[in-house]
Amino acid sequence: MERVMGGGLLPLVLAGAVLLLYRVLVRLRPGAALQDAVVVITGSTSGLGKECARVFHAAGARLVLCGRDAARLQQVVQELTASSAGTQKKTYTPSTVTFDLANTATVDRAAEQILNCYGQVDVLINNAGISYRGDILDTHLSVHREVMETNYFGPVALTQALLPSMVRRRSGHIVVISSIQGKIAIPYRSAYAASKHATQAYFDCLRAEMECYGIPVTVVSPGYIRTNLSVNAVTGDGSKYGVMDKTTAMGRDPGDVAQAVLKAVRQKSKDVVLAAPLPTLAVYLRTLWPTLFFKLMASRARKERKPKEE
Ligand SMILES: NC(=O)c1ccc[n+]([C@@H]2O[C@H](COP(=O)([O-])OP(=O)(O)OC[C@H]3O[C@@H](n4cnc5c(N)ncnc54)[C@H](OP(=O)(O)O)[C@@H]3O)[C@@H](O)[C@H]2O)c1
Repeated sequence: MERVMGGGLLPLVLAGAVLLLYRVLVRLRPGAALQDAVVVITGSTSGLGKECARVFHAAGARLVLCGRDAARLQQVVQELTASSAGTQKKTYTPSTVTFDLANTATVDRAAEQILNCYGQVDVLINNAGISYRGDILDTHLSVHREVMETNYFGPVALTQALLPSMVRRRSGHIVVISSIQGKIAIPYRSAYAASKHATQAYFDCLRAEMECYGIPVTVVSPGYIRTNLSVNAVTGDGSKYGVMDKTTAMGRDPGDVAQAVLKAVRQKSKDVVLAAPLPTLAVYLRTLWPTLFFKLMASRARKERKPKEE
């Protein structure tokens, strides 16, 4: 036994202690400072994007808020400016850039405008997105394209337009708000789940390729958040779904999710799942026991299937 302690077990115990200490130190590290950092947030007119604007503004970041509607962006700027009146913290009046992410032809020009605001981007938060509800049998190809343009090609185009300036400075941080549906696909969400799976794959590749430049890439995959995402979702024929789903209404508070995004940025996290235990378990089930996962999804599809006129 003594021989084992001296020869084999002691180094193992020491290695374990070093690993534990390292993990504690990683948790205790102060994290990246956000005071004065230039943070770009797409889709900042509502929901999670607006809450991210609130928490990054309060942290002292110089914001560039992006959206499709200039008047609503100005409204957010006014709300943020009013909220910081009288506080000790140094905060900045956000800048705004208006463009439609689904129109990738305009993204290069928008990236130029973004860079002109402060001459650099420290953190890009690709948050804007739309959801979809529909039966694959009734869904027009144009709807799949619309969702892909907004959720995948738009963020890819903006990221690629801003990356060269980050690579030159060997500094910057790319964040994308994906979804738990970027890791598992559930029935009647095909266009959305496909766009988020593509997002996960692209940004996983980007993380690996950017490591040598010291540019972290964070993929955040939330479960349901209490926003207007389902109300704004498109259906199979391209019309607006217009319904606040129960699951969305009972989702997480967008302010709490925004705080989790801030923490992920500070800690330069690589991949963050912010979902309830059951969907988180489903992610593991999809990999470890796919046959059971497929059975559960087929049963869910049967239950949710709308009767069709023959
Ligand atoms: N809510 C959830 O349950 C949930 C769960 C997981 C992940 N997410 C993700 O969280 C992100 C934010 O969504 P949300 O929940 O905050 O929904 P939301 O309230 O509907 O906000 C979506 C934002 O994206 C913007 N947007 C949509 N299409 C755009 C386009 N073509 N060009 C520019 N901006 C566009 C919207 O701008 P307008 O105001 O102009 O429409 C809005 O500001 C999305 O990526 C979504 O997929 C949400």
